[in-house]
Amino acid sequence: MGQRQPSTIDAGPFLKGSLSFFPLFFLFLFLFFFVFLVHVVSVVLHLTGPNLYARGFKDTEGIKRPAGSAGPPGIPAERKYLIGGNWKCNGTYGENMDRVTMFNDAGPIPANVEVVLCCPDVHLPLLGSSLRTDIAVGGQNCGVGAGFGAYTGETSSLHLTDLGCTWVIIGHSERRDGFGMAGETVELCAAKTKAAIDNGLSVMFAIGEHKEERESGVTMDVCAKQLAPLAKILTAEDWAKVAIAYEPVWAIGTGLTATPAMAQETHKDIREWVSANVSPDVAAAVRIQYGGSMKGANAIELLAQPDIDGGLIGGASLKADFFNVITGIPMLESHPLANKKLRGWL
Ligand code: PGA
Repeated sequence: MGQRQPSTIDAGPFLKGSLSFFPLFFLFLFLFFFVFLVHVVSVVLHLTGPNLYARGFKDTEGIKRPAGSAGPPGIPAERKYLIGGNWKCNGTYGENMDRVTMFNDAGPIPANVEVVLCCPDVHLPLLGSSLRTDIAVGGQNCGVGAGFGAYTGETSSLHLTDLGCTWVIIGHSERRDGFGMAGETVELCAAKTKAAIDNGLSVMFAIGEHKEERESGVTMDVCAKQLAPLAKILTAEDWAKVAIAYEPVWAIGTGLTATPAMAQETHKDIREWVSANVSPDVAAAVRIQYGGSMKGANAIELLAQPDIDGGLIGGASLKADFFNVITGIPMLESHPLANKKLRGWL
C-alpha cells in the first residue's frame, strides 16, 4: 500500500490566493446584510411611520393612533362639551406634525368633553393616522355635491369620511364673507350641511354677526337668517349631528372676546330660536359652541355659562393652550385636573 499522496488538485486562483478570497467573501457578506438591514428598517418605517405621503393616503393598515387618556368628567352637564380646534390655512407638514406630537403628549381629556381638530385638507391623512384617538379629526369645509364628480378643486364630504374624518365645519364667517372670492350664501351653507350629514359627517355650523350688526342691535336677526335655511331642510335625526358654533365675527382672530354674559345671552336666544323654529327637544339637545378669541385664559368663565356647551378655537388651537380650553370646563376643586388648569400649558 502506497502512502497517501497529498492532493495535487489545483485549487485555482481563488483558493490559491486565500488572502484575496476571504476579504472579498466577507465584504460581500457584509454588503448583503447591510442592504437587508436597510430594507427591513424601511419596511418597518413604512408600516409604522406617520408619513402617509410615502405610501398613499388611503393605506392606513398597520398604523395605530395612540389612545390618549380619559380623565374623570368635570361637573356633569346637560350636554357633553364640544371643543373644536380650527387650524384654518396654517402650518407646514412638519409644523403640524409637531402639533400632533404636542397634543398626543398632553394630559387626559375629561370624559364629558368631546374634542375635534379640523386641519387643512392636505394634512388630514397625517392627523388621521397619528393623532390620539380621543381627538376626532375634521375638515373645515366640504362640497355641496352628494359625492364625487367633475368639481375641480373641491373636496367632497366623501373624501373626508374616506380619510376617517367624522366632523366638518360649515359656514365659517371667513367662507361666508369670501376672502377675495364670492362668499357662501346662507342657502349654500345649509345645503352643504345636509350633504355632509347625508354622507355620514357631523357638522359644526358656524353663525355670527359682524361688528356693525351687533352695534345696531340685529345680532339675533342675523343668526336667525343663517339658521333658517337649515331648519327647513334638516330632519330631527339630522339635528343630532349638528352643533351650532356661535362666532361673533368681530371677535374672531381679533383678541376681542364677547363677555361671558354677552355670549350667554346670545346662546340663550339661539336656543330659544331653535326651540320655536325646530323643536324644544332639538333645542335642549343641540350643543352651542362659542368661538372668537377663546383661549385658556377666558375659557373657564365662558364654559361656566349654562348655554355655552363648548368652543370653536382658532389661534389657540395651534398651541398647547388648546388643552387649557379643554380642561376649562366646570370642575370641582377636587377634580384631578382642576389644579392643572392654566399650569404648564400657557
Ligand atoms: P380665533 O378663531 O379663536 O382665532 O378667534 C376662531 C374661529 O375662527 O373659529
